[in-house]
Amino acid sequence: MWAAGEAYEPYVGRWSRLVAAEFVRRLAAAPGGSWRDIGCGTGAVARAVLAAAAPRRVVGVDPAESYVRHARRHLAGPRADFVVGDALALPFPDGRATAAVSGLVLNFVPDPARAAAEMVRVVGPGGTVAVYLWDYGEGGMRAIRAFWDAARALDRRAEALDEAVRFPLAGRKPLRELLTGAGLAGVETGEITVPTRFRDFDDYWGPFLGGQGPAPAYVASLPEDHRAELRERLRATLPRACDGSIRLTARAWTAWGARPPG
Ligand SMILES: C[S@@+](CC[C@H](N)C(=O)[O-])C[C@H]1O[C@@H](n2cnc3c(N)ncnc32)[C@H](O)[C@@H]1O
Repeated sequence: MWAAGEAYEPYVGRWSRLVAAEFVRRLAAAPGGSWRDIGCGTGAVARAVLAAAAPRRVVGVDPAESYVRHARRHLAGPRADFVVGDALALPFPDGRATAAVSGLVLNFVPDPARAAAEMVRVVGPGGTVAVYLWDYGEGGMRAIRAFWDAARALDRRAEALDEAVRFPLAGRKPLRELLTGAGLAGVETGEITVPTRFRDFDDYWGPFLGGQGPAPAYVASLPEDHRAELRERLRATLPRACDGSIRLTARAWTAWGARPPG
């Protein structure tokens, strides 16, 4: 599902980058921090940290080699590095980071509580652990919501694959419980909404053919005639502006807390 960095960028990378910029701004971290970006993918969150948080160092980790290569090619330098690894067994020592952050990842990790515990382990006392996930419901990540609404109207099998059904962690309350359960103090939740503007229908649909993530994986599983039917349903139902663009929004749920001192 996660194997081609170049294909991920136009699908979700371009929108995650917008959320990441606001997410890092809200964390208001002191300069000179040492950050870990868990499930870094092509580097959306690490990029925002480098741009806005004046870090001493940021290290991203992701099991997908192609994504790590992509992030290295575009972002590695004296302050940034990217390594292959798993959120469930982070390749970092205890207590050395000032912040462990993760964007759009915990839904894909088989044991989110363990991943949260690993993030807590790698930050020092007082360190920040912060995550965000798309809201897949109504009014959330509308490009993906519209996709599953169309898929479900055509195929009963799609109901169980819909990310709103599959990913119950993607909500304020479950995220709060996750971070509180990991022992973090002062847990706060919030939401970030960004505009997602598609030039035209092809700009919307093309990235669903790239195979990165649950919806594109579903598209890849369809026979050609079903795929065409889904495409045409979306073409007919998505709202268009006068210039042919498709202007939607994407909302992410955020949650963060601090490792208690001592
Ligand atoms: C939707 S992408 C998010 C990537 C990036 N953080 C962003 O915001 O664009 C989900 C990422 O989770 C990664 N992932 C999946 N399972 C993981 C695991 N067990 N540990 C760490 N990352 C994982 C995938 O390889 C993929 O890069």
